[in-house]
Amino acid sequence: MALDILVFLGSIRDSSPPRPARLGHRIAQATMRRLEASNINASLIDPLDITLPKPFKPHFSYAKGKAPQDMETLAQRIGKADGYVMVSPEYNHSMSPALADLLNHFGSSLYAYKPSAIVTYSAGQWGGTRAAVNMRTFLSELGCLPVSAMIHIPKSQEIFNEDGAYMPEVDGTRWDGYFDRTLGQLAWWAKAAQTQRNQAPDAMAEPFTKSPSQRNAP
Ligand SMILES: Cc1cc2nc3c(=O)[nH]c(=O)nc-3n(C[C@H](O)[C@H](O)[C@H](O)COP(=O)(O)O)c2cc1C
Repeated sequence: MALDILVFLGSIRDSSPPRPARLGHRIAQATMRRLEASNINASLIDPLDITLPKPFKPHFSYAKGKAPQDMETLAQRIGKADGYVMVSPEYNHSMSPALADLLNHFGSSLYAYKPSAIVTYSAGQWGGTRAAVNMRTFLSELGCLPVSAMIHIPKSQEIFNEDGAYMPEVDGTRWDGYFDRTLGQLAWWAKAAQTQRNQAPDAMAEPFTKSPSQRNAP
């Protein structure tokens, strides 16, 4: 069965400076292109398209099927997907708050037992590597373990145009290879997890449904 991968775009920024705004849109488009080149079904999840309730109330706090429509729809998409790509800028040496906020609205039972891939970028020279470090912890806690290879894109406004295609002077073949190493690992793990998922790993332990104290040692 063809893999179904969600690409989360980790920016909701519309400010200038720093320019350009929403560099993440280019990176997400480029990522989708590489996934599609491998015959993987890639769907963009853009936080600007999703209305979330204020004050914060996560999906699992609602009675079954009673969350606001956007949340229900996204919960179903997260639950059905075979894996995730998390595209994040680096804000103050951390992952995107917009991405963390969006992901926090859904419980780990929806993400778990599927892999994720970390893609970070920046307008400057470090490519978001410092954000990537804490993304590993974050995604592991959600249960969608990140694959070992990662994609970091420094000065990404010089690599991709607004459609996520390479700038004329860029060596696209090398960048393709760089992307495909990580996305290839993601696809391998997603395929493996796809065949295992019907074995209900949660049956080995009761899910946590009531209180965080359920996680505590006896
Ligand atoms: C609040 C804020 C904090 C930032 N912090 C960092 C940082 O720690 N490291 C870095 O390399 N770039 C940082 N930048 C610059 C971003 O890499 C750059 O603005 C990039 O375009 C952000 O992605 P976006 O356009 O998709 O939102 C920061 C930008 C903003 C707005």
